[in-house]
Amino acid sequence: MCGSSPAIAHVYRGTFVHSTPHTALQILEDALLGVDTEGKVSEELNKLSQSCGFSPSEVIQLAQHEFFMPGMVDTHIHAPQYSYAGTALDLPLLQWLNTYTFPVESRFKDLEFARSVYTQVVKRTLRNGTTTACYFATIHTDASLLLGKITNDFGQRALVGKVCMDINNAVKHYKETSEESQEETCRFIAELLKKKYPLVKPVVTPRFALSCSADLLEQLGAIAKNNNLHIQSHISETIEEVNVVKKLFPDSESYTDVYLKHNLLTDKTVMAHGCHLTDEELALFRETGASLSHCPNSNISLCSGMLNVRNVLNHKVKLGLGTDVAGGYSASMLDAVRRTLDTSKVLTIQEPDYCTLSFEEVFRLATLGGSQALSMDDHTGNFEVGKDFDALRVNVAAPEGPIDLVQVDEPKVCDDRNIVEVYVAGRKVVPFE
Ligand code: GUN
Ligand code: FE
Repeated sequence: MCGSSPAIAHVYRGTFVHSTPHTALQILEDALLGVDTEGKVSEELNKLSQSCGFSPSEVIQLAQHEFFMPGMVDTHIHAPQYSYAGTALDLPLLQWLNTYTFPVESRFKDLEFARSVYTQVVKRTLRNGTTTACYFATIHTDASLLLGKITNDFGQRALVGKVCMDINNAVKHYKETSEESQEETCRFIAELLKKKYPLVKPVVTPRFALSCSADLLEQLGAIAKNNNLHIQSHISETIEEVNVVKKLFPDSESYTDVYLKHNLLTDKTVMAHGCHLTDEELALFRETGASLSHCPNSNISLCSGMLNVRNVLNHKVKLGLGTDVAGGYSASMLDAVRRTLDTSKVLTIQEPDYCTLSFEEVFRLATLGGSQALSMDDHTGNFEVGKDFDALRVNVAAPEGPIDLVQVDEPKVCDDRNIVEVYVAGRKVVPFE
């Protein structure tokens, strides 16, 4: 590091908290961490050599009541739905989509409306400590490109998807044909890649099996394969949805098989929910390397179901957490952490032998687990040497600190008021410039 590697830009000293594949929560006290000029962790914690020429005055010293943790990864969030988050939670999923979601999403044809909502959601999630977000946009290509630009401008790492849906939509002005959806997906991918945003990538986004014809699913699978792209969708969120999929795709053995048959289950696929997947379906996830996004706030708010996370982990399926705004009413990943713990406890109440998730495990799911679910763990998720410095500076004694603390043992991260700085790839992105 003192030799040919990129020069060190900053050195931080204090407490660092992160997860590794072997340790759910590792706390390193009085550690040193160097960040190089490319924004990467440049030396092992605790091993930075003072001989690199840093005088103690150049080291950024964290206070006693502060620590760094990895940025959180929201593996599933609908950016346009931020406009009605916290409302309209009185209907089950399929009615909720037609009554509230599709009419609101249809408004994103208007680029000024899109700009306003997308700026708000990116700022809000960054302030809440989401350094990486996997976004659904809407069917509108130009507004989806705008979301990519806004995430780039604010410095958030993101996967952005133009939504594809060609069937089963009761809303007049929110429709596309299979051909339009394919063409616009290709245009979206080409134009987003042309921008060369360093932290923003396109993700192929069939809304879910109920919204896409077999032809569209097949073509989207081919587009993802030909361009080696990420894929995102929804799966087995509610029992009603599972039953309708069975009727629509009688030749498929299961909901998972529908996506598998159309080449949409790969090691770069993230599927939201999966509350009602069978063990056989989980085995298909494991075999293909596809991952799940657990969105407990949404699952409870829409009365969809409760994912048995322990069973998913036992099947060695990659799993991250998601807010699923606006099925989930909170854009905060700290809320997703709490709801994950709550859901696990409710499952324990129902089945006392259930192996409840620990806070440490859930902390890992919100950080490293999310990076793994998005196949980004080679460069994000914790503070290993060589990874990008995506980090939250947490002050547990923040002056405006919340009184209504949810005790999550040590470390205590209560809400966004405790997140005083956010870094993505070494760059400070919160507070906003
Ligand atoms: N399934 C298909 N579309 C959606 C959506 O927008 N939100 C949720 N929660 N589930 C979906
Ligand atoms: Fe969703």
